[in-house]
Amino acid sequence: MPLRLVVAEDYDDMSARAASLVKEALARRAVDGAPARPARLTVPTGDTPLGLYERLAADPAAAAALRAADIYQLDEYLGAGPGDDVSFAGWLRRALLRPAGIPDGRFHRLPADHLEPQLALAHFEAELAAAGGLDLAVLGLGVNGHLGFNEPGSPFDAPARIVRLRPETVRVNRHYWKDAGEDTPHYGVTLGLRTLFAARRVILLASGEHKAAALARALEGPVTPDVPASGLRRARGEVIVVADRAAASRLADVPAPSPGSRVP
Ligand code: GLP
Repeated sequence: MPLRLVVAEDYDDMSARAASLVKEALARRAVDGAPARPARLTVPTGDTPLGLYERLAADPAAAAALRAADIYQLDEYLGAGPGDDVSFAGWLRRALLRPAGIPDGRFHRLPADHLEPQLALAHFEAELAAAGGLDLAVLGLGVNGHLGFNEPGSPFDAPARIVRLRPETVRVNRHYWKDAGEDTPHYGVTLGLRTLFAARRVILLASGEHKAAALARALEGPVTPDVPASGLRRARGEVIVVADRAAASRLADVPAPSPGSRVP
């Protein structure tokens, strides 16, 4: 299926467009299945999706659809438990789960603090695959082209696993936890590209000039594990990239934003 690029005016417009694409994917699930089953999705942490989450939580229909879905954690720091201050589970709880009223039981936390994390991760991903895989993967883009914590060099069929974070990722992550300073983790766990690229719909978000080089490499450079996001061009399902003008500024081939398409 060809990848679709939506260029938004700015961060707010990107968030609004992403919100309607997420709603559409969840609504499609509701009418598709007979009997209807809960949608399965994964969503990112980081700065990029915060505007999307605000919109979803403030929209009663979207929040209700999310409460009926199963949310699988995308990535986490190795060893992080639910009560840890520096954890993506906590970030997501504050940014989306709590504001949208999503019950804890609907959030499937990566077993980052398991005694045997690698085994537990394989089990986590196998259970997700056995349930039918992801209906929707909302993803952010790392400055180095990573997806989740699938760093450059990750094979496109990589499984869920423990990863050593690249120095640039550690640096970017340090800014999320200003008080943690040097203690920001150097290892993470992540759903594998295999699972992400098999999702029925992928929505990749990119905002800001600091993402422009990574987005250009992902969409217009060689398809290579050196740029994990470039693998989206070979993904099985529907892939929609929603980028604001700043993030799209280094693309050679940019569709003009359609007039009047700003989503209220
Ligand atoms: C982080 C997270 C990713 C996130 C990405 C972009 O390291 N592991 O899940 O999507 O990098 O983050 P941001 O949106 O803050 O730029």
